[in-house]
Amino acid sequence: MREEEKIINALAESTEDFLSGQELAEKLGLSRTAIWKKIRNLRKLGFEIEGTSAKGYRLTGVLDTINPDEIKKRLKTRIIGREIIYKTVTQSTNSDAFELAKEGAPEGTCIIADVQTAGRGRLGRSWLAKPSSSILTSIIIKPRIPPSQAPMLTLSAGIAVHRAIERVTSLIPHIKWPNDILINDKKVAGILTEMSAELDSVHFVIVGIGINVNYDLRDMPDELIKIATSLSTETGRFIPRNYLLTALYEEMEGAYRRFTRQGPSIIVEEWQERAHINGRRVSATTMNGVRIIGWAQGVDDDGALLVKTDSGAVHRITAGEVLFAH
Ligand code: BTN
Repeated sequence: MREEEKIINALAESTEDFLSGQELAEKLGLSRTAIWKKIRNLRKLGFEIEGTSAKGYRLTGVLDTINPDEIKKRLKTRIIGREIIYKTVTQSTNSDAFELAKEGAPEGTCIIADVQTAGRGRLGRSWLAKPSSSILTSIIIKPRIPPSQAPMLTLSAGIAVHRAIERVTSLIPHIKWPNDILINDKKVAGILTEMSAELDSVHFVIVGIGINVNYDLRDMPDELIKIATSLSTETGRFIPRNYLLTALYEEMEGAYRRFTRQGPSIIVEEWQERAHINGRRVSATTMNGVRIIGWAQGVDDDGALLVKTDSGAVHRITAGEVLFAH
């Protein structure tokens, strides 16, 4: 966890109203001046922190406007988020990113929206989010890989979302194949990967990520309430989106770099560690509507889920829906 994240967590958890600069300095092993500078940065990110020389600091609120300049400034990345385009309203950040990539936007360009009027999910579904409730972002990636390896980027994004949520909220989510992020069995984030490619080379991949951040369950449409949740619901506190976006882009770059340097197996390994799917009884419905019930055997280096039926046959599922069976 970064020092600024530690400061915010300490202020958020402080049962006393104020935490003195001295207490914070001791807790983090920093000078009081360093604490003061970090508080100043946190204010720029949208945290409302009251400070008095007599009492110290107190968190009074969070102004949750997305601030692309601030995210860019803070990002410790070389590729992802070097260019960020923010739109208050758009149809779909994935569609925007696709158009921009076609026009030659550089790798790592990110599109963020506060609201989408035609947000898209997997399998032709829509993705719904109330204004300011969510992270809605798409990242342009231009990997030098064959199209068959593109699912690795979906798995990498799953790892990145998982790690970013863990880093900022301390919640430990669960990944459901191929890329649903769940907390307490309810969906908190989804990933839609789209690609432009020729038979043997990828032009670009768009990784679209939707995270329910400060989404009040009462504001969700009826069909979502039973199956979805949000980070604020699960933590009981407000999660600043600028913060989570920064963590997300950094984690995405990390996972992407591990994939390009070390190959698919490192991603498969990391994904499996976070998905806890191996050995579980699953029911998979393929794109052609065929249902396969069996024991999950992990994913292969193409990102396909391997399911061993009771007859011993191993099926490779490349796309579809998977549920845990009993
Ligand atoms: C899923 O069905 O689980 C995938 C959901 C992906 C939603 C995100 S929100 C940002 C980006 N723009 C879109 O239109 N979809 C993705």
